[in-house]
Formats: sequence, C-alpha cells, structure tokens
Amino acid sequence: MTSSVEDIQQAYESWTKTSKKLMEPAREYMPGGDTRTTAHYAPYPAFMTRGEGCRLWDADGHEYIDFMNNFTSLILGHANPKVVSAVNEQISVGTAFAAPTESQVLLAKMIIDRVPSIEQIRFCSCGSEGTMMAARAARAFTGKQKIMKMEGGYNGNHDLGEISLIPIPPDAGPIEEPNTLPPDKGIALSSVADVVTVPFNEPEITEKLIKKHKDEVCALLMEPMLGGLGMIPPKPDYLKAIRQMTEDNDILLILDEVITFRLAPGGIQEIFDIKPDLTAIGKIIGGGLPIGAYGGRREIMQLFNPETEGFMWHASTFSGNPLSMAAGIAAVEQLEPDVYDRLNTLGDRLRDGLNLVFEKAGIRGQAIGFGSLVNVHFTDKPISNARDSVEGFFGAGAMPMYFHLCMLRRGIFPASRHMYSISTPMTDNEIDTALGAFAESLYEMKPIVEREYPHLLR
Ligand SMILES: Cc1ncc(COP(=O)(O)O)c(C=O)c1O
Repeated sequence: MTSSVEDIQQAYESWTKTSKKLMEPAREYMPGGDTRTTAHYAPYPAFMTRGEGCRLWDADGHEYIDFMNNFTSLILGHANPKVVSAVNEQISVGTAFAAPTESQVLLAKMIIDRVPSIEQIRFCSCGSEGTMMAARAARAFTGKQKIMKMEGGYNGNHDLGEISLIPIPPDAGPIEEPNTLPPDKGIALSSVADVVTVPFNEPEITEKLIKKHKDEVCALLMEPMLGGLGMIPPKPDYLKAIRQMTEDNDILLILDEVITFRLAPGGIQEIFDIKPDLTAIGKIIGGGLPIGAYGGRREIMQLFNPETEGFMWHASTFSGNPLSMAAGIAAVEQLEPDVYDRLNTLGDRLRDGLNLVFEKAGIRGQAIGFGSLVNVHFTDKPISNARDSVEGFFGAGAMPMYFHLCMLRRGIFPASRHMYSISTPMTDNEIDTALGAFAESLYEMKPIVEREYPHLLR
C-alpha cells in the first residue's frame, strides 16, 4: 500500500523497469524520448510491444485492457482478423501508387451510404488534414476569410485546429465574447487574427456572435462533443440550434466528427438529426491505419474537381493509399448498427459505474461523455463547456496524474487525461475489471487526497 505520491511514482517505476531503461536512449534521440506529445505522460510512458483484441502488453510483459484505443480510433481493438487479412493481402501487391484505386471508390461509397450530408468525399492522411481542407473549402466557397471555432475545440494539429484550446481566465476573456488565443509558441499570429471564438453549449451567445461576424466568417468549425477537453456532450437541442443559426446567417457548418464518427453509422449527426455542409472524419475509418477524410455538399466538394477550370488544390503523398483503404473497408464492413449500440451500452455501463465508485469512495469526481466515449473529471461541478473543464482540471492539482499511474499498475490503459473509449472485443467483464481497478485506485489515493487535496473530499 502506498502512502504518498512519491510512493505511487516509485511503485510505477518498479512496475515499468524495462520502459525506464528504454527511455534512456529514447531521450537521447528524441526530445523527451517521445514523438507525440499526447502519448507522453509523467514520469515516462510505458513502452508497448504488442496488441491483440482489447489488450496491450508492455515491455515488461504486463497486460493492460486498452481503453485508450489510440485515442478512440481502434474501434475493433488490435489486430482484428479481417483487417489483418485485408492488410496482408494488400501489402504484398503495393502500398502507394499515386493513382486511383477501386478501393478508394468503394470506401468513399461506403461512407456516403452511411452519411446523408456527405455527397462527395476526399481522403487524406489524417483527421487534421481533413479539418484543414474543409476549412479551405469553406473559405473558397463563400469568399469569406475568417473561421468561427469552439472554445476548447481540438480540430487537429495545424494552427487553426489548436487555437483557443485551453481557455484559462483571465486571458480567455468574458464568456459572452471569448478572446481568441494562440495555444502555444510557434502558432502564426495571422491565423489567430482569422478566428472568432465562441463558447460550446451556449447557443444564445453563439447566435449573437454569428450575427456580429457573419459578413467576415465563412464557417463554424466545431467538434459536436468537446473531446480533448474531456468528452463534454452537447445539450439535447444544441446542435440543431447551431445548424439553424448557421444556415440563417449564411455561414457554413463544418462538423469535426473525427472522434464522434464512432457513435453511430452516420456519426453524431445521425443521432442529433442534423446535416452539416461539410464533415471531417478520420480515426475509425482507417481500421487502425493512418487516415482522414472530408466531404459534404456536392457543390462545395466540386471545387476540388481537377476536370474543371480554376479547381482547388489538394495534394498529400499518402492520401487514399491502398493500405489504409483496404484496412478501412475491412473495418467499416464490420460496423453494423447493432455494433454501435453494443459499444454505446458498454460506455453507459462504464460511465454509470464510475460515477457510483466516486460516490461510494466519498471523492469529488464524475464521468461524462456520450455512448462509447467516456471521460473522468476530478470535480463534481457540472461541466458543460471548456471553462468548466479547465477549472476542474486545475482544481485537482497533481492528483489526476498520480491516479493515472495507479490505474496503469492495475492493468488499465486509459488516456492520461482520463479518457476511456470502448472497442468491440470488450464485454461487461472488461468494464467491470476497469471499475474494480478504479475503485481500488481511489481507495489507494484517499489518504493522500485527505492530506494534500482535502477539497476533493465529498
Ligand atoms: C476532434 C478531432 N479532430 C481532429 C483530430 C486530428 O486527427 P489526426 O490526429 O488524425 O490528425 C483529432 C485527433 O485527435 C480530433 O480528436
């Protein structure tokens, strides 16, 4: 049993001895030993060697239930047999042709058949490219320059995608008219000047800001559920209201469904019955391989038609590569409507169970999200926008970081920001195992919470 945060870190370091050793050369050759900020966590991440179904194995041979699923993309888990066989078949006959393939047409049709708002589609190599190209299309189609973006919305790792990601007061300004903030060093200030920020789940404020900026704004680009800021779901009529006000004011709606496309065959837009002008997707449609896509109204997508005068440019070396297409087709083929229902029900079981565990342990916290996407927050204040989430995060100090290490030691692998997603190989058993580990971790940390974070006690 541990009694301090130092003990928790020590226990993790003993548990991941091989990873600790592997970090030495890694730190020499890559900054911080890592090549992806979001996959890094303190004191160092466990190196993984193998994945199968919903399980992962680390360099010390420990087994984990993978709730991270490469940030929600592995909806079928690891090494899904049909995906493996499709990839094996393709890899021996070529991985990149710089030419059309029938597989591109097939995957395009499969997606279009599922999503009524997508009449034409283009593939790219990642979700970031999808949102970037959708934004460009909106500028070109409307002739207007600025983009409206959700405060706390993550739309990929390009300048626009990360603007106003973490609204910290007082810099964030009043919620009635949020400041547009560069999220990091190195972001082009010109891109900040071209963004108008609006708060999530606040339709009245958004409508006022839309009316104020409608002549300069081409589109509202938004995640329909704030993923990076902790899976904050939309209020029941919110997305419909957003669709209506964008339409009424001649602003395109670009829905970033890179994460939420795992919630229903037609994405979250099917669940809330809305039709955006453009949609960006990625993650699950690649069967575990790199992919992204953007699509929508035919007249907008036709801007990219190279058979027309003055067409728009869309390059990218691995766009529509046959390997991602083969894996994507094999994955999407397996995603029948009942699969989503089962995943979403398991997500409800996890969310409800986590909330009960917090209550029983007497610690302030909550699990929120929608369907198969779950996020834990160490606060019991309601969370409906990015500011609520940021307040909860900073309010919990270093507690969430150590809690994450407690979960890893118990063989549960969520994102270090406490995001959980469900994959098809999971059953009630995996959910209940995670709930057991969560309860044990809370009880392990309770004496520390009592001593160092007493405001987190109920
Ligand atoms: C909502 C959302 N949009 C866009 C992206 C970017 O996708 P990718 O990492 O494939 O570029 C992500 C990635 O996590 C995302 O969550």
